[in-house]
Amino acid sequence: MRALYWNGVNDLRVGTVKDPEIVNPHDAILRVTLSTTCGSDLHFIDGYIPTMKAGDVIGHEFMGVIEDVGPEVKKVKKGDRVVVPSFIVCGQCWYCQHDLYSLCDNTHPKPELQEPLLGYPTAGIYGYTHAFGGYAGAHAQFVRVPFADNDCFTVPDGVSDEQALFLSDAAPTGYMGADFCNIRPGDTVAVWGCGGVGLMAQQSARLFGAERVIAIDRFPERLAMAREHVGSETIDYTQVDNVPDALKEMTRGRGPDACIDAVGMEAHGTGLQYAYDRLKQTLRLQTDRGQALREASLACRKGGVLSVLGVYGVIDKFPMGLIMNKGLTVRTAQQHGQAYMKRLLGHAQKGELNPSFLATHRFSLEDAPRGYDMFKHKKDGCVRAVFVP
Ligand SMILES: NC(=O)c1ccc[n+]([C@@H]2O[C@H](COP(=O)([O-])OP(=O)(O)OC[C@H]3O[C@@H](n4cnc5c(N)ncnc54)[C@H](O)[C@@H]3O)[C@@H](O)[C@H]2O)c1
Ligand SMILES: [Zn+2]
Ligand SMILES: [Zn+2]
Repeated sequence: MRALYWNGVNDLRVGTVKDPEIVNPHDAILRVTLSTTCGSDLHFIDGYIPTMKAGDVIGHEFMGVIEDVGPEVKKVKKGDRVVVPSFIVCGQCWYCQHDLYSLCDNTHPKPELQEPLLGYPTAGIYGYTHAFGGYAGAHAQFVRVPFADNDCFTVPDGVSDEQALFLSDAAPTGYMGADFCNIRPGDTVAVWGCGGVGLMAQQSARLFGAERVIAIDRFPERLAMAREHVGSETIDYTQVDNVPDALKEMTRGRGPDACIDAVGMEAHGTGLQYAYDRLKQTLRLQTDRGQALREASLACRKGGVLSVLGVYGVIDKFPMGLIMNKGLTVRTAQQHGQAYMKRLLGHAQKGELNPSFLATHRFSLEDAPRGYDMFKHKKDGCVRAVFVP
């Protein structure tokens, strides 16, 4: 089959690779209908997250039609149109039983790669480094879905392929980030980042009842999407002296009730702190540029919630004293998509959540390296590049 694979830092290629096969009785093989890019991919494409190997098929945000199932698959069958969350979960372990799906204990085939850093392994993820399980990704004609009964969700009529596609990763991540905020009527939620994750966090904050949503980014077209598709107020961080001060002013001196970081380790910024982060990251003295997370911690009102969706490795100058003294609640996780999927499909069916506006650009799978280039460099207003195998 044809697939997009990582060949080295900033080197993606399309080639012919071995077709996936049913390995375990609870596996399914999915014929991928659509797949898309994610900001998380950029971290290993840029070489900040190690343990990729040349030839690894990438991609973790996808939907498709079931082509074949193993003998123990009971709930889904050949021909079903399904969406698959990006984390692979067993459905049986203590973590799965407690809705902490991305922490599943049974789907990381090499826990020894994570234990020295994290203490315990997380769940495996499609197409996302060997440190996260080394599973083949979904920018391909076919992909193996282990534990198909837990991980394949049938897409109801009335929900298009393009809507379903984003329920795989960007939408559940944003929805979880808003859920973390314990939103009450009258609340103001500020969201750093207007990529797919940030925009979905903003739309979800509205669904959870936020009165005001304030979005921060620097790309005019992304800020326009936040205004037009979510009704967010916006801050272009290149146009203000200081984002926390701007937020303080917009919230009558109290600060947002909750702050969502949908930026992560490759934050951009202005000023001395950004130059310092950039230098230390280039010299590999830290993996992260933490501008958004520091600003969110500073801007949040006392006793508020800091909801961290951006991916981080090792961050320098993390303001723990500030978090402690202001009594912030920090909530963070890789997305627990399986916990939210039924609600998300319901919201999509009722038209309350429509992520398809994220699909700004479409490419054939053969053209996927160009799609990633446009996505990475935000060329031509690209928010998500969608691939059609
Ligand atoms: N927790 C999870 O399960 C999960 C899932 C998906 C993605 N992520 C992470 O979420 C983050 C965002 O993902 P995405 O796909 O939306 O990425 P993206 O690259 O499409 O968007 C990131 C946005 O952040 C903006 N940004 C950069 N620096 C900023 C700053 N200082 N202030 C405000 N905005 C700034 C960029 O301009 C860009 O629009 C990434 O770190 C990604 O790895 C986490
Ligand atoms: Zn992702
Ligand atoms: Zn599990």
